[in-house]
Amino acid sequence: MTTLVVHPATGPLSGNVPVPSDKSIGHRALLLGALCEGDTHITGFSHGEDNVSTANVLRAMGVEIEEPAPGELVVHGKGLRQLKAPHGDLDCGNSGTTMRLLCGVLSAQPFRATLVGDETLSRRPMMRVASPLRARGAVIEGRPHPTRQGEILAPLVVGPLPNGRTLAALEYESPVASAQVKSAILLSGLYAEGATRVREPSVSRDHTERMLSALGCPVKTAGPLVEIDPARWDRRMAAFELTIPGDLSAAAFLLVAAQLVEGSRVTARGVGVNPTRTGLLEIARDMGAGLAVEPQGERGGEPVADLHAWSSPLHAVPVGGETVPRAIDEIPIACALAARALGTTRIRDADELRHKESDRIATMAGVLRAFGVMCEEKPDGLDVEGRAGQLDAADVDSRGDHRIAMTATVLALVARGPSRVRDAACIATSYPKFVAPLRALGARVDVEP
Ligand code: S3P
Repeated sequence: MTTLVVHPATGPLSGNVPVPSDKSIGHRALLLGALCEGDTHITGFSHGEDNVSTANVLRAMGVEIEEPAPGELVVHGKGLRQLKAPHGDLDCGNSGTTMRLLCGVLSAQPFRATLVGDETLSRRPMMRVASPLRARGAVIEGRPHPTRQGEILAPLVVGPLPNGRTLAALEYESPVASAQVKSAILLSGLYAEGATRVREPSVSRDHTERMLSALGCPVKTAGPLVEIDPARWDRRMAAFELTIPGDLSAAAFLLVAAQLVEGSRVTARGVGVNPTRTGLLEIARDMGAGLAVEPQGERGGEPVADLHAWSSPLHAVPVGGETVPRAIDEIPIACALAARALGTTRIRDADELRHKESDRIATMAGVLRAFGVMCEEKPDGLDVEGRAGQLDAADVDSRGDHRIAMTATVLALVARGPSRVRDAACIATSYPKFVAPLRALGARVDVEP
């Protein structure tokens, strides 16, 4: 149980930060690489534990994945139909994306597979994927939720389809804007007899659609509606080459650190700025944060940019509506901006945060209060009262949630004394090297095992 002892910044943070590869795109590159025919070459892969879980689960189904040089992966694709029945459980670790996307693929396989996860993942709702997949004929069973009737949890047992049946066409109105749910459905649609249509309440990240479309799969999108109609498609995808963009969801912590610590200026290069992911940049800019986005073209169908962030006075803004799914993983770090913004930042429409690696509304409210920031929890968000001066030094527990641990670390930089961030090993799920760039920028962080 690692603890970070984070000292207040004694001067500006300045410099360039290396950014790990985008976790969401990494999962999809591995998974679709496995379903393609031929060798897919992925560069810039940074070994966040969640992505490694996806690689290991694919290996357990017979997919060979090699790493001839650090960060360069070769995925020997098996095509849509040649995954092998795994011998043991498929361990998704902490990764909800691994578990939910795999449900989509496994629901069409002629074998049974059991998906397990760590303690945190085993508390997260899985009926959201099981329900639409069952509606098209998939066999998925889970552990009944102890209190919420109709909800299921991991372990999940998926497949096989009875008597050589095929998945049916599906028209699905999703109650949540969730890329994991949408992607699971779309991936199952690669195997289905008819068309797959998914409509979301508002647009969630669209990496699956972009990658499938680049691979020649017949995907059409119109706002929050996505359709795959495989009628005139040969159901084959050729291997591809991809350099994964930097992860905005990881860069966000260091950019916000620069926006909070007086006099700072930090640059992150080659960061993915897919518009379905850039909600935080809009929130930060609306608050008056120093931010410049320099577009740098595309990588694998995804826009990338160099991002520059610097400190400036902040003011509260309302956060809600369609921005929330586009900033869903950045709401905790947006709370760090809110903690220093003049006025009350009211965050709404964010009830999905209760189903992340922790209940991020409750956990974040606890962390903010520990730093002396007044806040009020709401069913679908929170109100954060900004504070101008230094925050109180705090002793907080991440509850095993990587984004909470990193947000607390950033808040600690503007506290009046050293703070402790407990249970911080979870940071490795998305950003194993987080502490090194922070130190390189001038922050003092001690790691206690
Ligand atoms: C992800 C989708 C989001 C996000 C998660 C990654 C993805 O989850 O929170 O970190 O890669 O599809 P939901 O789709 O459940 O909102």
